[in-house]
Amino acid sequence: MKIAFFDAKPYDKPSFDRYGEMYGIVFKYYETKLTEDTVGLAEGADGVCVFVNDTVNAAVIDRLCEMNVRVVALRCAGFNNVDMKYAFGRIHVLRVPAYSPYAVAEHTMALLLTSIRRIHKAFIRTRDYNFSLAGMTGFDLHGKTVGVIGTGRIGRVFIDICRGFGMRVLAYDKFPVPGLDNGDTIRYVSPEELFRNSDIISLHCPLTEETYHIIDAVSLEQCKRGVVLLNTSRGALVDAEALLAAIKSRRVGAACLDVYEEESDFFFEDYSGHILDDDTLARLISMPNVIVTSHQAFLTEEALSNIAETTVQNLIGFFEHGECPNELCYRCGEASDCKTGKCF
Ligand code: NAI
Repeated sequence: MKIAFFDAKPYDKPSFDRYGEMYGIVFKYYETKLTEDTVGLAEGADGVCVFVNDTVNAAVIDRLCEMNVRVVALRCAGFNNVDMKYAFGRIHVLRVPAYSPYAVAEHTMALLLTSIRRIHKAFIRTRDYNFSLAGMTGFDLHGKTVGVIGTGRIGRVFIDICRGFGMRVLAYDKFPVPGLDNGDTIRYVSPEELFRNSDIISLHCPLTEETYHIIDAVSLEQCKRGVVLLNTSRGALVDAEALLAAIKSRRVGAACLDVYEEESDFFFEDYSGHILDDDTLARLISMPNVIVTSHQAFLTEEALSNIAETTVQNLIGFFEHGECPNELCYRCGEASDCKTGKCF
C-alpha cells in the first residue's frame, strides 16, 4: 500500500516508518502541504496522509478521486480542514480521534504557568545575568476560577490538572458530560456566566460553524478585567483582531496561543529570516503578555507514536478489512464518528 504523506516533518518519519514497515505500508513523504497545486503528487498512491493545515476542499477531493486515491487519513483529531459534506460519497476520511489528551492539556498548563509566573522573561533575564525581580510578580492559581469550554478528552484532563492546583472550574459544553458537575468545585454554566466569572478561560472545543469566533469582541467585553485566555484548540475559535483590541484595552491580562486563525501560512516553518506578513500575529507576538507556540501542544513522544500507530491501523482496517472505526462520516450526523465505516 502506498500513501502520499503531506506536510512531512523530520519528527513524523521515525514512528511512521516503524509502524509502516510492520504493516507493509510505504509512506512517500512530501514536505509541501496538500493544496490544489500539490495534489498531483498523490498520483499512484492509494491514500493521502494529511495534518491540520493541509487543505482538503472540493477541488482537492475531485482531483484525488480522478487519481483513484480512495482515502484521506488525517493524522490528527480535528477535521475542520476537510470539506466533510463534499467528501461524503466521494472519498473516505479517517482520523486519529485521540492520541494523547495529556500532551495538549499539559502544554496548556505549561503555557499558563509560564505566562503568569513570567518564566519566559526570567529565562531571558538570568541568561543575561540580570537577577532583578522587578515586573515579575505573578499570582497564585490556588483558589482561582478557570472557565473550560469543551469538556471532552482534553478539556477533562485539563480540569483534573486545574483541580490539582486547587482551582474552581466553570465548564461549558454543548453536550455536558454526565456526572462531571459536582455542584461545587466543578459546575456547568452558560457561556455568559463562564465569561463573567472566570479568571482564566481555556478553549477545548472543536472548530465548527457554532464555535467559530466563540471568543470575539462581545464575549471579551463580558470577561473579567485581566482574564487570561488560553487557546490550544483551533485558531479560529478566537477573533484575533478582537483579542488584540482587548489586550490593548487591558481587558485581557494575558493570552497563551498554541493556535492562530491564519496559522497555516506560518506555523511549522522557519520564518526567522523573513518579514512577517501578518500584522496581527506580529503585534500579538510583540506583546509582553502574549505567548505563542506554533501548534506544538500535541508534540510529545507518546503522541507521535500513538498518531502513527492509529493512522497505520486505520489504513489497514480500511484497505484490508473493509472497515475502520475511526472513519468520519457526514451522513452519520454533523460529521461525527461513523461507527460502521460502511456509509457508502
Ligand atoms: P473531544 O471531541 O474529546 O472534545 C470536544 C468537546 O467539545 C466535546 O465534549 C464536545 O461536546 C464539545 N463541543 C462540541 N461542540 C461544542 C460547542 N458548540 N460548544 C461547546 N463545546 C462543544 O476532543 P478533544 O480530543 O478533547 O480535542 C479538543 C480540540 O483540541 C480538538 O477539536 C482540536 O481542535 C484541539 N486539538 C489541538 C491540538 C494541538 O496540538 N494544539 C492537538 C489535538 C487536538
